[in-house]
Amino acid sequence: MEISEKFTELYGYAPNLISAAPGRVNLIGEHIDYNGGDVLPFAIANSTYAALGARTDSKIRLASSLFPGEIIQADTHILTPLYGQMWSRYILGVFWAVGSARLPHGFDIYIDSTVPIGSGLSSSASVEASVAIALNGFFYWNMSLPDLARICQRAENDFVGMPCGIMDQSISLMAHEGSALLLDTRTLKSDQIPFDLKQHGLELLVIDTQVRHELVDGGYAERRDSCEKAAEALGATTLREISVAEFESRQSEFDTTTYLRAHHAVTEIARVSQAVQALRADNYDELGRLLNQSHTSLRDEFTVSCPELNCAVEVAQSHGALGARMIGGGYGGSAIALIHQEDRAAIETAISDAFAKNAFISPRFFVALPSAGARIIQRG
Ligand code: GLA
Repeated sequence: MEISEKFTELYGYAPNLISAAPGRVNLIGEHIDYNGGDVLPFAIANSTYAALGARTDSKIRLASSLFPGEIIQADTHILTPLYGQMWSRYILGVFWAVGSARLPHGFDIYIDSTVPIGSGLSSSASVEASVAIALNGFFYWNMSLPDLARICQRAENDFVGMPCGIMDQSISLMAHEGSALLLDTRTLKSDQIPFDLKQHGLELLVIDTQVRHELVDGGYAERRDSCEKAAEALGATTLREISVAEFESRQSEFDTTTYLRAHHAVTEIARVSQAVQALRADNYDELGRLLNQSHTSLRDEFTVSCPELNCAVEVAQSHGALGARMIGGGYGGSAIALIHQEDRAAIETAISDAFAKNAFISPRFFVALPSAGARIIQRG
């Protein structure tokens, strides 16, 4: 059933507006967005859809196809952080971050999504972006995409309680079809980098390990904290300001854990600019090599991988992938592999076999195509 019909069935009237906002794959630049570096994500076709109907009072009623039977009730005037069920906070948080002064009335909302939750494909940010773009479109605020991204990040940081960076919200809002987004996470200035693997006989295979991560846990916050402490110890605002050579020359000033975590960050920041050069030169062997290095660094220095992600990456690498790595926050979710089109079937089979042999849950595969960012798809 279409989202519009589901909304009408639930609330008894047709929605005023429907928006869509995509999930993402991060090509390279992992755990860099809170270190001030550049990141290089692109949007995927899987998206979250939000149907909104205006109310005459200040109430919010909220339902989602992913949590059937639950209706969350709230009020734009009395929202406080952590209100509601976990899933509903990503939506209510956006209302809270927008502020009741900007909201003359409440809404009935229905959410539907094809972005698998906890898969490292940024389902949370796509939910936030779908609501932010819907409100911006409904009220004709004309806010800039970076401003909307900041609203979404504030919702997640302060209402949900997850200290994420700003990459996922930005790419969901700013993506262009056929391009990856080179995003400066300090200024939110961005550059669309053409990303068309097909014409080179290549594909970006996503391997969803089906291990569901929970980023609200401490692991993410601890790593972010290590990076921020390392920057502070070096007299910098963020690790972006520190070169790899300078950082390595000051190793003795850090305990091992802090050193390794921050070392991942400074080297990954350098890899992003090398990856952009490789892409611009159509040098996919070099891009693959950088993906491999990124994975090793995330696994051994940042320690956010897991056996399933390592297995997917190693099997892809040994079956002809130009490069492979885990993506997103880690501890589960998805990996990507840059592959020749003709190798896809063999790589998928090899990974599935290896997962079965290790008694892991069966992985899921899809080919990621750089897709468009958040938009209004229906009015009236
Ligand atoms: C999660 C966060 C992002 C980013 C990635 C790691 O997806 O939401 O802000 O830090 O992890 O690169």
